[in-house]
Amino acid sequence: MERLNQIIAAHAGREGPLLPILHDVQAEFGHVSEDAIRQIAQGLNLSRAEVHGVVSFYHDFHDHADPRPVLKLCRAEACQARGVEALAAALPAQDRVKVETVYCLGLCSVGPSALVDGKPHARLNSAKLNALVEALA
Ligand code: FES
Repeated sequence: MERLNQIIAAHAGREGPLLPILHDVQAEFGHVSEDAIRQIAQGLNLSRAEVHGVVSFYHDFHDHADPRPVLKLCRAEACQARGVEALAAALPAQDRVKVETVYCLGLCSVGPSALVDGKPHARLNSAKLNALVEALA
């Protein structure tokens, strides 16, 4: 838990440190465990319920590690208008790739859009989306 202490210390003096800490913990450990929640709460002088509430509110935070690669598919309004729901419905069931729903990647005018390993993919059609998923599997 030394690394967790370092993450907490790196952000503790900032205004609004909780979200940056949670993002770093998620990136470092692949999830935000109950032990991490307890330690973060203690470090920020918050209740465990306050930290847990933030963790459970945001889709970016997970309570257990999932080793599958992630494709973040935007299903917000502009991408919906450009047909993302039909693309999502046509995706075969995935057990080797986690397809996460996100709401807007800032690529609204060139949607449907997705994010893989921090790299944006725009103007998706069924073939492009399936190729992205297959490349991750
Ligand atoms: S609505 Fe999909 S990128 Fe903005």
